[in-house]
Amino acid sequence: MAAKKSKGLLALLGKKKSKKSESGERRDLKLFEAMSNGDPYGDKELQRSAKDHLWMHFTRHSPYQTKDMTIITRGEGHYLWDSKGNKVIDGLSGLFAVNAGHGHQELADAAAKQMMELDFMPLWAYAHPRAIELAERLLSYAPKDLNRIFFTTGGGEAVETAWKVAKQYYKLKGKPTKTKVISRMTAYHGTSHGALSITGIAAMKAMFEPLVPSTIRVPNTNWYRARDRFASEEEFGLWAANRIEEAILMEGPDTVAAFYVEPIQNSGGCFTAHPSYFKRVREICDKYDVIFVADETITGFGRSGEMFACDRYGLQPDMMITAKAITSGTQPLGALFLKEKYFEPFTEGTTIFPHGYTFAAHPVACAVALANLDIYDREKLVDNVRTNSPIFRKTLEKLYDLPIVGDVRGDGYFFAIELVKNQETRETFTKEESEKLLRGFLNSAFYEAGLYCRADDRGDPVVQLAPPLTIGPKEFDELEQILRKVLTEAWKRV
Ligand SMILES: Cc1ncc(COP(=O)(O)O)c(C=O)c1O
Repeated sequence: MAAKKSKGLLALLGKKKSKKSESGERRDLKLFEAMSNGDPYGDKELQRSAKDHLWMHFTRHSPYQTKDMTIITRGEGHYLWDSKGNKVIDGLSGLFAVNAGHGHQELADAAAKQMMELDFMPLWAYAHPRAIELAERLLSYAPKDLNRIFFTTGGGEAVETAWKVAKQYYKLKGKPTKTKVISRMTAYHGTSHGALSITGIAAMKAMFEPLVPSTIRVPNTNWYRARDRFASEEEFGLWAANRIEEAILMEGPDTVAAFYVEPIQNSGGCFTAHPSYFKRVREICDKYDVIFVADETITGFGRSGEMFACDRYGLQPDMMITAKAITSGTQPLGALFLKEKYFEPFTEGTTIFPHGYTFAAHPVACAVALANLDIYDREKLVDNVRTNSPIFRKTLEKLYDLPIVGDVRGDGYFFAIELVKNQETRETFTKEESEKLLRGFLNSAFYEAGLYCRADDRGDPVVQLAPPLTIGPKEFDELEQILRKVLTEAWKRV
């Protein structure tokens, strides 16, 4: 990898190399020096610099004292390449985002064109054409009751925004005590204080307490772990939905503003729900005037086999959260869809919603989102998922002959494989065993075998797959072969 020649840069910056930090230690900025001098640099220099200066998200840094980071340098189609020249299948679409696949020239062209036309304007009192066009285009795919869009730069901000709209809406409607949010166990909704409060993963929250008060957890729809206790998935779904009613009554209906749910819950491993669950949720929300928020941060834009999973499962949300694949991950953008009812009180007199983000509805992100939707339509990506999802499932189900595979579940192009110690009894791994299996082996073994995916134990241990929506049966077979090889080896280590 060669740095661009920019000889005069250091001189211009007053030779600001290796500056002393406040503690008096010398900061080593050798990569910047090489960049400034036009000297070549490669993996070795990037490794050292990354270890010295980058703070990786949701990542343990201790292993980097003895081993290298994986530095991804290129993406094309459903493949990624790293700085050591390895090529792997992107089995997670980056992070459930690159649904149209990597490296679309037309997305780059749309960004460049927009940069030269209108590079930036916030959506603060001034609108711009791409945001207006995108809002209508998005609504054309969405459940028909949704009519208004509040843009953000990602999923967590939209989660946060929905809660703030709900709180202010009820204040404007003369119900100021309706502030609480009910959400599901193990569900992930983001990292800001509000979104984290709604998140149902205790271990992620403990060190940030006190969080925003007034959130309540109810059971999720983990059918694999519930099937001994119920006659059918439908009965279980009704039971789980009724826990929401119970929580509302316990807290007091006058205090509950919203219920958040992912149509397919990611964290814990692709928990789907019987349609009776969502039907009952709608009834409960209507009965107690609680806002039904569908978090489609992951499931939106074709992942489930419909443009939005709400349509696939007959959910009728009052608000819907999307992000990630709205631009196929190529620009940061999120969108909260709302029924007009929740906007109406904000149209009167001097009332405003005092909330927003500098870069929400960035013109470049909106232009890219529009171009991304052109790709969706032209390449019929959602049809591809609908047609091939049953084949994907069948291919993954071949893995049931491995004793470590307890459950294959999910929908569309979004599947989890739950790992167990005993297929018959469904016995799971202890925390220590899971630690050894996932962090000690699986994540790096998958990568070394040519697959970027996620082995996760926020709930019980699962391997998660969410590849670009462009792939088909040939690639499913490749994935199955890699999974088979690595999981066979994993079982030997149990
Ligand atoms: C369901 C759900 N909601 C919210 C978020 C947060 O999105 P972001 O990281 O864009 O803030 C995520 C992220 O993965 C998610 O999966």
